[in-house]
Amino acid sequence: MKVVVIGSGYVGLVTGCCLAEAGNQVVCVDHDAGKVAALRAGRLPFHEPGLDELLAAQLQAGRLSFETSIARAMRHAAVAFLAVGTPSQTNGSANLENLLHCVHELADTAFEDCVIVVKSTVPIGTGDHIEKLLNAKHGAAAGQPRVRVASNPEFLAEGRAIRDFRHPSRIVVGANDEGSAQALAELYAPFVERGASLMFMDRRSAEFAKYACNAMLAARISMVNELAGLAGSLGAGMEAVCRVLKSDPRIGAGYLQPGAGYGGSCLPKDLRALIRSAQEAGEPAYMLRSVQRVNRLQGRKLFDAIRDHFGGGLRQRRIAIWGLSFKPGTDDVRSAPSLALIHALLGAGATVSAYDPVAMNAARAALGDTATVFGESALNVCEEADALVLMTEWEEFKAPDFEAVAARLRGGVVFDARGIYRPGLLRRHGLQCHRLGERPAGLQAGKAVRAPLAPNPQAEPRTPG
Ligand SMILES: NC(=O)c1ccc[n+]([C@@H]2O[C@H](COP(=O)([O-])OP(=O)(O)OC[C@H]3O[C@@H](n4cnc5c(N)ncnc54)[C@H](O)[C@@H]3O)[C@@H](O)[C@H]2O)c1
Repeated sequence: MKVVVIGSGYVGLVTGCCLAEAGNQVVCVDHDAGKVAALRAGRLPFHEPGLDELLAAQLQAGRLSFETSIARAMRHAAVAFLAVGTPSQTNGSANLENLLHCVHELADTAFEDCVIVVKSTVPIGTGDHIEKLLNAKHGAAAGQPRVRVASNPEFLAEGRAIRDFRHPSRIVVGANDEGSAQALAELYAPFVERGASLMFMDRRSAEFAKYACNAMLAARISMVNELAGLAGSLGAGMEAVCRVLKSDPRIGAGYLQPGAGYGGSCLPKDLRALIRSAQEAGEPAYMLRSVQRVNRLQGRKLFDAIRDHFGGGLRQRRIAIWGLSFKPGTDDVRSAPSLALIHALLGAGATVSAYDPVAMNAARAALGDTATVFGESALNVCEEADALVLMTEWEEFKAPDFEAVAARLRGGVVFDARGIYRPGLLRRHGLQCHRLGERPAGLQAGKAVRAPLAPNPQAEPRTPG
């Protein structure tokens, strides 16, 4: 099948490469000429494990090419995906400017019978609007068939995007006509043969399903964070509580790790957009608003814990940060909790030295001309620092040489925002370890007698998007 993917970012490029791998002839479009030139030369504009090899293989096989022009790409296309970004506007709604720009370009383009598929996350009803726009111009032109628009929201998670696309837990197709449903069923047949389930529904339900999933995931994260805070105040240990929660099949094991709050390119913006849609529909959305509020407070709690540790003042304090991307496996720093923390620390007069194995360039660009110092290694940023804050659980941070950390850290204190360190182990190296949801010193908890912790057999899924 000839497939066009408009927007060659985290979602579009993975979609294009994986559909080419499945035997389709794919043209990926992007309006960023520099990005297109790099991709044609086999160079990735961002970090995604395994994507460079896949890109090289598909270029080599001649199944994948790159274009800056939608008109050139659309010749003979049977399916065209829209995968451009839909970031937040100041009022919270999704910014559809880039998407609609592409739609207008499509409306001015001569193409044959082609299903237009919206893969970007868009507010409910956007597919209806796009179909109307396209048919008012393109579909109305003499000899042109009526344009059909389907919704096929994406659920891949950065850092494991190729695996997720190759073996999706489900493929959601929202189609209001038989023809587009059939075209997508044909395109995804190889994935279904490998075990993926195709879920057909109407277009609005598919659009909503994407927001509903992200709302549920965000709610779990805010709930466990709120419970962790409560556990700390009441003298309970959240780690033990989490083991109980995770062992309950009705609750499930995923997204139950207290931390610095959710971030990334999807959850925060999708929550905001859904709340905005609710507002426009006259719905109060109490839960969604609370989820968002708890998340905002969670980032603040980490900052407060650091500030309180230093007696309320951070002036002249040097804080080392491990991890800048919003989660491991990606260089994406969009709405990363690390950036919010850095801004707060700098605002309070601290100096910040930060290190991340892959996201330093992205963070440098996002932080602009703030005074953040970027170190060459994890140990390097600890030199003369008053505290170390672990923000992203990259593999290299999981079992560091604490002896070497302790030798460099002036303050001897580690704030573990991901809950991966054993405080006892750090204590043996002379380091104090603070974890969110830990009972404050001085609050007596009941004495527990238990066997050593066994690793959790159920792997913890990572934050999506
Ligand atoms: N990133 C994720 O993990 C993820 C997961 C699921 C869904 N989504 C959704 O997928 C969509 C894309 O997200 P992303 O993370 O890939 O965004 P991105 O910013 O990485 O990529 C978007 C790409 O579109 C290009 N673009 C913008 N306007 C264009 C135009 N007019 N013509 C051609 N190209 C244009 C940009 O240059 C960029 O390369 C969003 O709606 C997002 O919410 C993202």
